[in-house]
Amino acid sequence: MRSVYWENDSLKMIDQRRLPSALEIVTYHEPRAVAGAIRDMVVRGAPAIGAAAAFGLALAAGGNAFSSRDELLRGLKEAAGVLRAARPTAVNLGWALDRMLARASAAQGSVPELAQAVLAEAQGIADEDVQINKRMAEIGAALIDDGDTVIHHCNTGALATVDWGTALGVIHTACEQGKHVHVLVDETRPRLQGARLTAWELEQYHIPYEIISDNMAGHFLQTGQVQKVFFGADRVAANGDLANKIGTYMLALAACDNDVPVHAVVPTSTVDLSIQDGSQIPIEERSQDEVLGLAFQGEPIAPAGARARNPAFDITPAHLITSIVTEKGVVSPPFEIHLREALSR
Ligand code: MRU
Repeated sequence: MRSVYWENDSLKMIDQRRLPSALEIVTYHEPRAVAGAIRDMVVRGAPAIGAAAAFGLALAAGGNAFSSRDELLRGLKEAAGVLRAARPTAVNLGWALDRMLARASAAQGSVPELAQAVLAEAQGIADEDVQINKRMAEIGAALIDDGDTVIHHCNTGALATVDWGTALGVIHTACEQGKHVHVLVDETRPRLQGARLTAWELEQYHIPYEIISDNMAGHFLQTGQVQKVFFGADRVAANGDLANKIGTYMLALAACDNDVPVHAVVPTSTVDLSIQDGSQIPIEERSQDEVLGLAFQGEPIAPAGARARNPAFDITPAHLITSIVTEKGVVSPPFEIHLREALSR
């Protein structure tokens, strides 16, 4: 099952807030509700929110009785503005919306024909995502050896994409090739994408894993129990600095200090060459309730009145990254040269 798909003139998505307790599908009929779903993390993961936003524009195009082409294009731009504002860090969101708007402006014909072209483009983005992930997984699986234990951060699997995933897709494909891989799953506080979502996916694929709290990663790396670190990214700058789920930076630092290779797996739609380095990537700050709202043995984890900070992403500098796996090949340092080369292939 895809995490984001089109059915009966509506957008359907797995509600990722409910997993692992329940596998529930939610249905969307208009773009503002899709923007809300992205903000509330019903759907999450850079490529998945890009695809959801693209289908959000298809809903905008099909759902309104536009009387002219110009009116439709204006409606799409307005809806794109609302969707774009939903989350700031993952570049895939803006990338998908820009691609949709360009397709709409280039399309000729009647209003229904335009709406049809917009839907076809959204479907194209979703289908391509799956193909690209499968290609990246084949390429990246060569980096995994039989018997490896790897640390994985956040959720980068089928749920974070339309299907198959980025870093978790690489691990999944390596296992399908018959390699024995053990995954140490960072729980990924505060939203617990690792413990809730990655562990759920690994259960479905029958891949052996153990959940660790994020602050245990350094210990496992230092004691030689881990051969590789894998994660995805929400935006990669031209020099290879990348934004990914909060905690990635500390993980990469600890891996580097212990000479453990660090591999980022990203489709080229996640690379933003307009940004020179990581300092220019906007970091989303989410509600403190996500940090304070967790329970410990049924009790609040902090005293009443406690305040918290909640940056959702951090920047891992390029010098801590061994390779960036894309659908166009494995990119090695110096990234400021090799990323551009890969993108132009
Ligand atoms: O806040 P989230 O859950 O949307 O963050 C997702 C991540 O950080 C993933 O690692 C990233 O999108 C790459 S995986 C496709």
